[in-house]
Amino acid sequence: MSSGGLELKLIQIDPEQIDDEKLLPAAEALRRGQLVAFPTETVYGLGADANDPAAVARIFAAKGRPPDNPLIVHLADPDQLGSVARQIPPLALRLLEAFAPGPLTLVLPRSSHVPDIVTAGLDTVAVRFPAHPVARRLLQLARVPVAAPSANRSGRPSPTRAWHVLEDLGDRIPFLIDGGPCEYGLESTVLDLSTGKPVILRPGSITAEDIASVAGLPVSAVLPDRSDGSAAPRAPGMKYRHYAPRARVQIFQPPQTDREREDLDNQIRALTGEGNRAGLFASRATLDGLKSACRLLDAGAKDLAALPPGSCAGFAYGLYPDPVAASRHLFDGLRLLDRLACDVIFAEGMPEEGVGTAYMNRLRKAAGQAAPVLFVCTGNTCRSPMAAALYNLLRKPSDAPGQSAGISAMPGDLASPGALAAMNQDYRISLAAHRARRLTDGLMDEAGRILTMTAGQKKALLAIRPDLASRIQTLGEAAGLPEADVPDPYGRSVWQYQATAAKLEQLIRSFLEKET
Ligand code: TXA
Ligand code: MG
Repeated sequence: MSSGGLELKLIQIDPEQIDDEKLLPAAEALRRGQLVAFPTETVYGLGADANDPAAVARIFAAKGRPPDNPLIVHLADPDQLGSVARQIPPLALRLLEAFAPGPLTLVLPRSSHVPDIVTAGLDTVAVRFPAHPVARRLLQLARVPVAAPSANRSGRPSPTRAWHVLEDLGDRIPFLIDGGPCEYGLESTVLDLSTGKPVILRPGSITAEDIASVAGLPVSAVLPDRSDGSAAPRAPGMKYRHYAPRARVQIFQPPQTDREREDLDNQIRALTGEGNRAGLFASRATLDGLKSACRLLDAGAKDLAALPPGSCAGFAYGLYPDPVAASRHLFDGLRLLDRLACDVIFAEGMPEEGVGTAYMNRLRKAAGQAAPVLFVCTGNTCRSPMAAALYNLLRKPSDAPGQSAGISAMPGDLASPGALAAMNQDYRISLAAHRARRLTDGLMDEAGRILTMTAGQKKALLAIRPDLASRIQTLGEAAGLPEADVPDPYGRSVWQYQATAAKLEQLIRSFLEKET
């Protein structure tokens, strides 16, 4: 049931000069059990008094949120932590000292004061101290802990501007505070500290490396939407379809060569030629490099009419490929291009390191894409790029994408001449644009499957990341041929590379057969 027809009060607040008089009615509404949408430094939140189960129930109703997905409790001051958590590990205090207020959510053992509806019955509670001055002031004036999910309809991209909230919830909530665009644009990092071993349940702008540098120990990520389905979801929300615009989202890597630019142009033309509307979410440098005529959009644009059929619009998130700017504008870009009635949105991918990990996590969900299959060898110049290319050739478009990396790769190395020749002659695949990448924690965290060429490489990976044991296999094991190592053809004849390619093809075919 919707509470349609509600009269919404829109309150404009300048974050640099907060007017308490204007904010007070919203704080009082929270205390009376009403819903208030408000800006945070990550995304807009939809708040209710966390101590009032009836108020919290209104959040679930307004969003259409499944009841088994718990909420984050927002507090103004770390002194209040004791009222929601029954136990505060020393690491929590160190992390709060370093990152609070800010975009970090901690999952802690829950105090019995927190109503069941907030935690979806879990024995843990998620807490966060937002840094946005408007959110902080609202929490201070309300003097209650505020349960708040992102202020979007369930499944839609999170809101990073007030009009995004209006679009989704305008007729369902009584208060919206407009404090301008959100700084980070992606939801907070969710870190589980309830089990003795810190685990990232949702990557965000505070990265695994940031947390590890304070914790003094490595921090791993559990991304429960992996394709092997082996772990029960630990951040219940991450199992649902998310961040989805109406348009189909297709991820591309920033083109670096003329050939890659031409590829992208051709894909756009193929779409627009059939009367479809194409959208691009990319850096200005990428958009300027295209031949297709694309109408350029500003970050502040809204209320745009549909594009004419057969045309293209480009949203520039920044001048050059950059994960911080891309993250800040991702949800805004997706919503804007949706408003223009784009049928397909081409969105620029990023390297999965630092904030790029969180960006790609959201982008992949928006694209409805499964976590990638990561092929690993030593140098990432022969076997693993050949494997990823063959896998991408043979897989169905709906299968998880294939990627590659090397345990001790020299970043930027080209594919070896033998690999280039073998792939060209036997499969008409060009590895000319391939550049070697070194295996990183971010790449492994985001991968659904990590497949090595040899048993020795698998052993090496298990030694660095025992927490990912359920995802790491040799390609042979994944193909049901556990004895099969793929030997290194490096420096040998083209003939040897062709034999390697044939072996990879055989293993990948049986892997794909087993998977579907
Ligand atoms: O940046 C943010 O975190 C924003 C702003 C508004 O603060 N909030 C937000 O809330 O993104 P929401 O509800 O959209 O996402 C909360 C995530 C969900 O994936 C949920 O499953 C997880 O946190 N979560 C909440 N409580 C949890 C708990 N006790 N244990 C594990 N995961 C939990
Ligand atoms: Mg959300």
